[in-house]
Amino acid sequence: MTRLKTFLIVGARPNFMKIAPLYREMKQHPTAFEPVLVHTGQHYDEKMSQVFFDELELPKPDIYLGVGSGSHAVQTAEIMRRFEIELMKHQPEMILLVGDVNSTIACALTAAKSKIDSQAMRTFRRRYVEFIKERKTESPLSAAHLKQCHSPTAPIIAHIEAGERSFDFGMPEEINRVTTDVLSDILFTTSVDSDASLLAEGIDPRKTFCVGNIMIDSLQHYLSKANPSEILDNLNLKNTDYGLVTLHRPGNVDEPATLKPILSALIRISERLDIIFPMHPRTRKLLPNLGKAFNEQLATSRVHFIEPVGYFEFLGLQKSARLILTDSGGIQVESSFLGVPCLTLRPNTEWQITLREGTNRLVAPEEQAVVTAAFHSLTNRNQPRAQIAKWDGNTSKRIVDLFIKIFL
Ligand code: UD1
Ligand code: UDP
Repeated sequence: MTRLKTFLIVGARPNFMKIAPLYREMKQHPTAFEPVLVHTGQHYDEKMSQVFFDELELPKPDIYLGVGSGSHAVQTAEIMRRFEIELMKHQPEMILLVGDVNSTIACALTAAKSKIDSQAMRTFRRRYVEFIKERKTESPLSAAHLKQCHSPTAPIIAHIEAGERSFDFGMPEEINRVTTDVLSDILFTTSVDSDASLLAEGIDPRKTFCVGNIMIDSLQHYLSKANPSEILDNLNLKNTDYGLVTLHRPGNVDEPATLKPILSALIRISERLDIIFPMHPRTRKLLPNLGKAFNEQLATSRVHFIEPVGYFEFLGLQKSARLILTDSGGIQVESSFLGVPCLTLRPNTEWQITLREGTNRLVAPEEQAVVTAAFHSLTNRNQPRAQIAKWDGNTSKRIVDLFIKIFL
């Protein structure tokens, strides 16, 4: 029997922890799948990429595109150009995509327009169409959609974390999410929120499968290794309460006018507790533009800037933090699961469910708003640990079991 040759795409930091459990699960079924690990090279620093391969037990990528940084257009185009060559060379039947970064949309767009005219491709496509047609749906859109959306010679595109929406097209990720979902054949969602968003956008619900949150698979698998002690020792913070911060959204960190008020808030919060801030390279780049006096103020405060840290150290830092302040997507998910209060310094979030059922709260990224919310959170301690349906560590198994059901 032909194995389903599947490209698993990684590119940027949050992709590694989402792909690792799927890679591991597929490897459990060697007669069913031929997983091929593709790294676009969107992130390339040792601390933004290699460290995760080591910790998450991912092998060296089978294909490395080495695209590096650039404007959105340059980076996306370069991934597409290099990815197309590999697609044609290896002719996979399926592309597995996660999240919302430029690597995700670039590979989706390339795959959706490609022509792979192999017997295996036609066989797997036929099984896919038969399976989807059998699913029950109330939606009158379904029949037309199924016809319209599927090229018989394009690899099957499966998107994990489909349907997450911030409803803010000012975020490059929102554009990547919506367009990737339109191009996908199989949409794996994390919750009822994402199911509803896809339905509202007219996506055939027979293509949508609610499987839970893949990030929790990695979190649960590696939680016993989560250990912040080396970092806390180095900073002399053992047995001390601390807050944890990450920032990298362009809307917060690309201009002094937006970054400075947030950092001023952190200086004020650090009068109450130490702040550990593993800094994304995008954010680090702006520090020299904030002026000598401000940098000196930061240096004498209890805000501790460190390099980005590995996954185990970061999970450890999250687990033991009194409070997390972030604009990351993944950290809203992880902190909710861990039951640690999270202030998300953004006007909106694609993880609405963590506001309702987790420990997350949106805070305007303005100095006084951040200080007030942080002090409020510090004086109201007990947060419940989130128990969101299907965020249980079994998402990769659900996905791979479904592939087996559809294709084999
Ligand atoms: C990207 C994703 C964002 C995700 C984030 C996770 C897009 C549009 N954005 O943002 O959704 O939340 O990754 O971390 O895909 N840089 C380095 N070393 C690296 C990587 C980046 O120095 O290894 C610096 C470069 O100066 C680069 C800048 O960071 O220009 C931004 O990198 P880029 O990949 O374009 O976007 P991120 O801000 O990392
Ligand atoms: N993370 C990490 N080290 C760090 C910061 C974050 O390992 O210094 C992990 C974090 O635990 C989560 C993921 O990186 O699993 C989130 O990635 P990021 O915030 O870069 O991207 P986003 O989720 O916002 O797209």
